[in-house]
Amino acid sequence: MTAMLNLQGVNKIYNPNSRHPVHAVIDLDLAVQPGEIVALLGSSGCGKTSTLRMVAGFEQVSSGSISLAGRDIHTFAPARRNVAMAFEGYSLYPPLTVRENIAFAMKSEKMATADVTARVDEIAQLLDIEDILDRYPTSLSGGQAQRAGLGRALVRKADLYLLDEPMGQLEPQLRAHLRGRIKHFIKERGLTAILVTHDQTEANALADRIAVMEGGVLQQFDTPAQLKDAPANLFTGTFIGEPPMNIFAAQAKSENGQLVFALDQGVDLSYDPTAFPDALQQAILGLGTVTLGVRPHAVQVRDHGAKAQVYAAQWLGDQTHIAAHFAGGSVVSVHHDRVSRAKGEEIGIVIAPQDLHVFDTASGNAVSHGGTLA
Ligand SMILES: Nc1ncnc2c1ncn2[C@@H]1O[C@H](COP(=O)(O)OP(=O)(O)OP(=O)(O)O)[C@@H](O)[C@H]1O
Ligand SMILES: [Mg+2]
Repeated sequence: MTAMLNLQGVNKIYNPNSRHPVHAVIDLDLAVQPGEIVALLGSSGCGKTSTLRMVAGFEQVSSGSISLAGRDIHTFAPARRNVAMAFEGYSLYPPLTVRENIAFAMKSEKMATADVTARVDEIAQLLDIEDILDRYPTSLSGGQAQRAGLGRALVRKADLYLLDEPMGQLEPQLRAHLRGRIKHFIKERGLTAILVTHDQTEANALADRIAVMEGGVLQQFDTPAQLKDAPANLFTGTFIGEPPMNIFAAQAKSENGQLVFALDQGVDLSYDPTAFPDALQQAILGLGTVTLGVRPHAVQVRDHGAKAQVYAAQWLGDQTHIAAHFAGGSVVSVHHDRVSRAKGEEIGIVIAPQDLHVFDTASGNAVSHGGTLA
């Protein structure tokens, strides 16, 4: 399938000739398929908005190319790109009412007035803003203005919809409610969309694939499940997942026929080598210094196993979180049932080989996930 949107080698350098150039987006390759919803996820300043603005045409690419629906668009003016964008700082036209703002977005479609009214009403219903259609932007709350801005983007007919933090101003309940409706709206019409968010719950709920960015660099572009099961590096491993993945520095060695990971303070995790294919053992032993990762829900609390001391245990109503001092650091374990552990209690930590992620400490890149080479 040919991609709907294709970014190749895209760079954005702000103020390139100044003493403080900012390399906001670095060698970005990204292909979005028709009908796909992609989330751009990353911390503040990682280059999400810069990426969207280059696609929409509000920023020039410093280098690289962008094609949309088979056309090279990166030199086109924004109006010629056929991209609808909802901005992070909702930019509504102050002299127009919300209804006029949304209708204005359709002016190039030259529709009959009755059709325009029907489309505005449909979008207003979708976003729960029917009651503010006759108001002016200055009288709106942040969340109302944001939904009006989102409506102005979704009402258009475009090849691509770019939504920059479209629900950041809304309370969690309304966000969750609208998220479902917006996803249905986009999927029902087969639209292609890129959503920017810091919120991984939102990314997981809305997106087919998530592009994780950090420091202007795309770290991984994968389905929500793959990002959890097979993080490409330590950054995605620890960034995706709540509570975050547990991380331990380790020295790998072969001892008494076992594959042993020696952690700090004399804690050893020993594995039957048959759990790791030969090539993988070679890779791990060849590195020596590795970083182990294990998801909190995969950390087993037993009577046997490596010793740890509980410092916090809490039942959250649907899961128990246990935090314990372990190997000079700490380990967090999540259980779906109610587990009672007292503060100071000694527990045994067991990590099954299929739950172990191994990373190359030097590069941060994944070596293996659960006994399979990455
Ligand atoms: N017009 C500009 N001139 C100079 N630097 C800029 C400009 N716009 C953005 N930057 C810088 O580029 C980097 C990426 O910014 P960008 O707005 O793309 O981040 P973001 O991922 O959208 O962050 P946030 O989540 O805070 O919205 C930041 O370091 C930012 O300070
Ligand atoms: Mg931004």
